[in-house]
Amino acid sequence: MSVLPLTIMTHPLPPEWITSLNGRVRLVVGPSDFAGIAPHLAENLEETEAILCLLTDTINLEIISKAPRLRVVSNMAVGVDNVDMAACTNRRIPVGNTPDILTDATADMTMALLLSAARRLPEASADARDGLWRLWAPAGWLGADLRGATLGIIGLGKIGKAVAERAIGFGIKVIYTDLQPHKGIDAEFVSFNTLISQSDFISIHTPLNESTRGLIGENALRKMKPTSILVNAARGSIVDTSALVKALREHWIAGAALDVTDPEPLPTDNPLFDMPNCLIVPHIGSATRNTRRRMAEMACENILAGLEGKNLPYCANPEIYQK
Ligand code: GLV
Repeated sequence: MSVLPLTIMTHPLPPEWITSLNGRVRLVVGPSDFAGIAPHLAENLEETEAILCLLTDTINLEIISKAPRLRVVSNMAVGVDNVDMAACTNRRIPVGNTPDILTDATADMTMALLLSAARRLPEASADARDGLWRLWAPAGWLGADLRGATLGIIGLGKIGKAVAERAIGFGIKVIYTDLQPHKGIDAEFVSFNTLISQSDFISIHTPLNESTRGLIGENALRKMKPTSILVNAARGSIVDTSALVKALREHWIAGAALDVTDPEPLPTDNPLFDMPNCLIVPHIGSATRNTRRRMAEMACENILAGLEGKNLPYCANPEIYQK
C-alpha cells in the first residue's frame, strides 16, 4: 500500500473547504494561534512533501532546507511576501497563491474603509453609543466629500483597478502610480510625488517587496495634504507605523484606515488604537464567505497539482516551468 504524501497545513481550516484533500494526502495540522510552522510540526519537515500555509506564516530558507522532499508550497493568499520565493525557485519548488478570486472582496473592503474614514463612522458610532448624540448637530461629525475628490492609487494591478472603477462610480477623480501606465482606464498616470501631494485619498495596492517596504514613511506623509486620508488594504509594512503615528498625532494628514498593519496583529497598546481618526480592522479584506472558501479550495487545487507533478493552476513562480 503506497503511503500518502505528508502535507503540513499550518492552521486548521473548515473541513468543508478542504474536502478535495480527503484520501489524497496525510495531513498534519498546526494550531490556530501560532504564526508559522509550530514547533511540534517542524519535526515532520524531513518527510513533508507539501505545505499549505497562510500569509502570516514565514516560509523561509531554513524551513525549506529542512524539507528535502518538499514539492509544493501553497499560500492561501494572493500575496506571497511571506515565502522566500528565491529559495523555492532555486529548488524548483512551485509556490501557489490565490489570485483574482479576492479582487472584488478586497476592492469592496477598500471602499468601505475609505467611506468610513471619509465620513468618520468609527467616531460617530462611538459617540452615539456613548450618549454624545443629543440633538441633530448641524456642524457635528463633518466629513469629506467624495464627488470631485482625488483618489491616488499606488499600484494599479487587479485590485487597484477594481478600486478605481468603484471610486469613479462615486464621482471621484482617480490618479495612479505604477511601474508603467495602463490603457483602458479612466485614470491618470502620475509620478509618486504628484500622487502624494495632490490626492485627497491615497490607497495602497502594490505588493510588498524591497522597493515598497516603508514606501509611505515620514517623507511621503509630510507631503500629503493635511485633509487627506490614507487607506491601506495591501501589506502593513508598506507604511512606516511610527511615522504614521506621528503624522496622525501632529495632523500632517486627517486620517487613516487600515486593514493591514505592521506588525500584525497590532498590539492593543499601539498608539494608533487611541486615535479617533485611525480606523483599524484585522486584515479582513478578503473575508467574505465565498471568497475565503474559494481561496482555500484553490490552495488545495495547488497542493494536489504540485503533488501530482502537474503545473500549479495558480502559480506565483511560473518561471520554474520554463526549460
Ligand atoms: C491577502 O492579504 C492576500 O494576500 O490574499
